[in-house]
Amino acid sequence: MTNKKDIIILAVESSCDETSAALVKNGREVLSNIISSQINIHKRYGGVVPEIASRKHIEVIDTVIKEALDSASKSLDDIDSVAVTCGPGLVGALLVGLSTAKALSFAIDKPLIGVHHIEGHIAANYIENPKWEPPFICLVVSGGHTNIVIAHSYDKYEVIGSTRDDAAGEAFDKTARALNLSYPGGPQIEKLAYDGNPNVIAFPRVMIDSDDFDFSFSGLKSAVLNYINKCKMKETPFNRADVAASLQQAITDVLCHKAIKACKKYSLKKLAMAGGVCANSFLRRSMEDLCLKNGIELNVPKPVLCTDNAAMIGSAAYYRMLNGDFSSLSLNAFPSLRLGENIPNDFKANDIRNTLTLHTNN
Ligand code: KG4
Ligand code: ZN
Repeated sequence: MTNKKDIIILAVESSCDETSAALVKNGREVLSNIISSQINIHKRYGGVVPEIASRKHIEVIDTVIKEALDSASKSLDDIDSVAVTCGPGLVGALLVGLSTAKALSFAIDKPLIGVHHIEGHIAANYIENPKWEPPFICLVVSGGHTNIVIAHSYDKYEVIGSTRDDAAGEAFDKTARALNLSYPGGPQIEKLAYDGNPNVIAFPRVMIDSDDFDFSFSGLKSAVLNYINKCKMKETPFNRADVAASLQQAITDVLCHKAIKACKKYSLKKLAMAGGVCANSFLRRSMEDLCLKNGIELNVPKPVLCTDNAAMIGSAAYYRMLNGDFSSLSLNAFPSLRLGENIPNDFKANDIRNTLTLHTNN
């Protein structure tokens, strides 16, 4: 009888301003998840500076990988495969993780698996809840993406809605700047909003009633600026906490409305959330309430699994691996890779078969 042995994946993520490495067992169990954030460096520029991000990734990536191995009490001999985010993201930042992962894969003679960053965010749900399985609807809200996705299976993700302009995370970040809050704006707005009244200012809920699952958030920054400027012109004092709370409410209303609508339209009673904005506790609570009312099962990863991390990449890679979906050492970085699009790859079928035999024990 052939028993499947445990599969341990070493995963690397460097698509934006977090350098992360993780060891993930059988796609669901996190043995280690080391995250080195560059936020304090980019803060002084009001956003991520791509060139600085690449340099900082280079400085720490070896240490981060070593820490991931050490804190899991594993060595490179225990690794069955090396996974890495190959897009979308900042090209220079992606290339640091990619080159490192390719070198490791070559050195330890274990297969490489290129992973789509958003597929990773969605897979954070598999780590959070060991019983969570497709099909489900997933609301993906990060700094660069706002999507509603149908997860048909572990390897088939269909995007049914996207933002026409800014992502929800960008709306948080840009409006935060208008309120003189530091980068990244989401957590700052959340903190300020605790003391505010969300019903004071009616910021626009653009496209909330549109027939599709698309979003538009680019008008929010102007709406906040207009509100502040009008108050200043009329010399009426305004409460910054009310602005933050009203803004958070506007963004939450649109995201919740469309996610629930998608569950109903596709008769899927399972909703997952993914991406940095889902770390927002007001959004999490609002979605929880709505799901309860509508008989929908909700799964939300804990905040550290919502923002960028390598564990989620290791989980997504596991399901690619089960599918024989490996990458060649000529894998490139794809800054605008779309979810559901095949990762360009020249891996040969025979190589895949050979690789697969590595992962079973007699
Ligand atoms: O997924 P992520 O870590 O990186 C990307 O792939 O973009 O998302 C980063 C975004 C930023 O826009 C940040 O402001 C937002 O997630 N974010 C939040 C919160 N924490 C992070 N937005 C609202 N509330 C939060 N607590
Ligand atoms: Zn991300």
